[in-house]
Amino acid sequence: MPEDPHHALRPETDVLTRGFDPKLSVGSARPAVFRSSTYVFSSPEDAEKAFDVLGGRRKLAPGEGVDLVYSRFNHPNAEILEEQVLPLEPGGVAAAVFNSGMAAITTVLFTIVKPGDAVLFTVPIYGATQTFVLDFLASYGVHGFTVAAGDGEAIDRAIRETPNLRAVLLETPANPTTIMTDIARVTKTSAALAQPPLVLVDNTFLGPAFQHPLAFGADISLYSATKYLGGYSDIIGGVAIGRDRALMTKIKSKRSLFGNILQPDESWILNTRLATVYLRMERQSENARLIAEKLAKHPKIAKIYYPTLFEDPEQRHIYETQCEEPGGLISIDLTGGKPAAFDFLRRLQIARNAVSLGGVETLVCHPRTTTHSSWSAADLDASGVTEGLVRISVGIENWHDLLADFERALA
Ligand SMILES: Cc1ncc(COP(=O)(O)O)c(C=O)c1O
Repeated sequence: MPEDPHHALRPETDVLTRGFDPKLSVGSARPAVFRSSTYVFSSPEDAEKAFDVLGGRRKLAPGEGVDLVYSRFNHPNAEILEEQVLPLEPGGVAAAVFNSGMAAITTVLFTIVKPGDAVLFTVPIYGATQTFVLDFLASYGVHGFTVAAGDGEAIDRAIRETPNLRAVLLETPANPTTIMTDIARVTKTSAALAQPPLVLVDNTFLGPAFQHPLAFGADISLYSATKYLGGYSDIIGGVAIGRDRALMTKIKSKRSLFGNILQPDESWILNTRLATVYLRMERQSENARLIAEKLAKHPKIAKIYYPTLFEDPEQRHIYETQCEEPGGLISIDLTGGKPAAFDFLRRLQIARNAVSLGGVETLVCHPRTTTHSSWSAADLDASGVTEGLVRISVGIENWHDLLADFERALA
């Protein structure tokens, strides 16, 4: 028996077998939900020890336990989830769960940066992430800089030339045009600097099944767990997984301060979803690939965005070297502009018109007037978020039925 029985297991197996001891849940095959806000100490000495550990004044020896304290700091369902989500991100040594994807992103950035530092991020990026860096962090003296996603040379240059660069944040593929950024190239360029910035990757769109940023040298992989991890459009959550235990401990201590840990019920729900995330994502990706390839030549579609249909050689190279499957998101640019896009949304019978993505049901939205409506017209045009663009998050329905729905709505 190897010292760590999990060291050789593949993620789909490991996720089902680690991090949970049924004896601690009166033998229950699935974890109990521990809703308690506070925990009874074994002794006053153990209470003192627990606070010393929380305050960073005492380190635990390998295998040494410590009493739980209070559920804003930590609770069993978060601990189980954090242990079980780890194998899904190879290279990760610790995870932290949050009550939204934005809570994960903002807490990680707050932990890393201080006034005078700079944060560089690729655009397009999720709108609230952009607002947080450019508006909110700016008011704390942190300088935000943007660079076009996918443009390797411009990103290298920006990394080398941005003064006091502390963090590089990538969202790849970027929403809604699926443009990809080369994670390995960014981590290599960053590591070559005298004071390397941390590389953070929002892995919401292709992770955890098809893209593994830590394996390409990134420091932290971030998730809106609301999407594929949650998988049923019924939970808001976030996850950060990192390669440096000390940094993850600092992030968790900020989480205790902000009070944005994922609550016990939500942790339990998210935990139940981990076991099927590969199954769901594989089906969603295969459905999307079949549909995208059938729609590619449709006369009402001016342009289609999907990784297997990339024409740009740099994008093809990134997709082929960085991603295991193309994923479940397709964007289509309709020839008739906004009226055609709205007509298409109105006529759909199976797919539903809603924002968000990654659920088992197919969701479709018009980014220019919804998810990206706060952008200027110039930024929208520059990023390809046109009047006719529709984003499709493909679910697990039968793909023939979905294709028929799309073709009927286009006709
Ligand atoms: C790529 C990406 N990152 C982060 C977020 C924010 O996540 P949440 O809504 O769970 O806070 C979203 C939400 O749509 C997203 O699409």
